[in-house]
Amino acid sequence: MYKILEKTQFSEKVFKFRIEAPRMAKHAHAGQFLMVRANETGERVPFTLAGWNAEEGWVEFIFMVIGKTTEMLSTYEAGESIKDVTGPLGMPTEMAEGPCAVIGGGVGLAIAYPVAKHLVETGHEVHAIMGARTKDLLLLEEQFRELLPEDHIHITTDDGSYGEKGVVTAPLERLLQEKAVTQVFCVGPVPMMKFSALTAEKYNTPITASLNPIMVDGTGMCGCCRVEVDGETKFACVDGPDFDATKVDWNDLRARQAAYLTEEGQSLKAYEE
Ligand code: FES
Repeated sequence: MYKILEKTQFSEKVFKFRIEAPRMAKHAHAGQFLMVRANETGERVPFTLAGWNAEEGWVEFIFMVIGKTTEMLSTYEAGESIKDVTGPLGMPTEMAEGPCAVIGGGVGLAIAYPVAKHLVETGHEVHAIMGARTKDLLLLEEQFRELLPEDHIHITTDDGSYGEKGVVTAPLERLLQEKAVTQVFCVGPVPMMKFSALTAEKYNTPITASLNPIMVDGTGMCGCCRVEVDGETKFACVDGPDFDATKVDWNDLRARQAAYLTEEGQSLKAYEE
């Protein structure tokens, strides 16, 4: 059992859990993830590490309520325990030397933040491009502002309720025109990552995407997290989750993510009833 030390609610549907996990905290790196099973009969769901502290012995993950498991998790309170947490899994994020851009869209900002933090701590100049559908869904703005200078943060919302109206590719394109960025990292919805990749490719700037296919075991055994990269089949849980974004078959990833939408909807409905 893994005790919830702290629960933070960012918005109606977005939460952060801090879990007591001293051994995991010692081995955690930016870009890695955890497999979480809420209770005895629960499904295993991957969540990217959003923070950790080896001295205090905890790890954190952020989630948005989108289905049965995340709905159930959102009812857990500090002091209660989660049945299983496995990790850290996957390969840590690697970035080139020099100025970097980190793009996070929606709940992907929870993954982008530890990457940005790691890059700052390793001496990189970091520019963050933060995107959300609307102001209420913009995560971790305060944490990004503590980490980076004001003019290194670019915010977009689809509906124009905060920051620049539009999508992340507009500030990305301006940044790549103005600055010799050596690498871009992006994480978020598939269309956001796909068009970020096309924009970076236009400026010959390497771009890495953190992929989020459906996962089951998280250890390379089930094949559920297959992604097509440069014409080869890779397992996101052990070969990734980071890949060269210009080589990813985005249509395949989108189709795989949608494979169980009907069943996921039925499961959530049954849980709510
Ligand atoms: Fe099973 Fe990756 S989640 S192989």
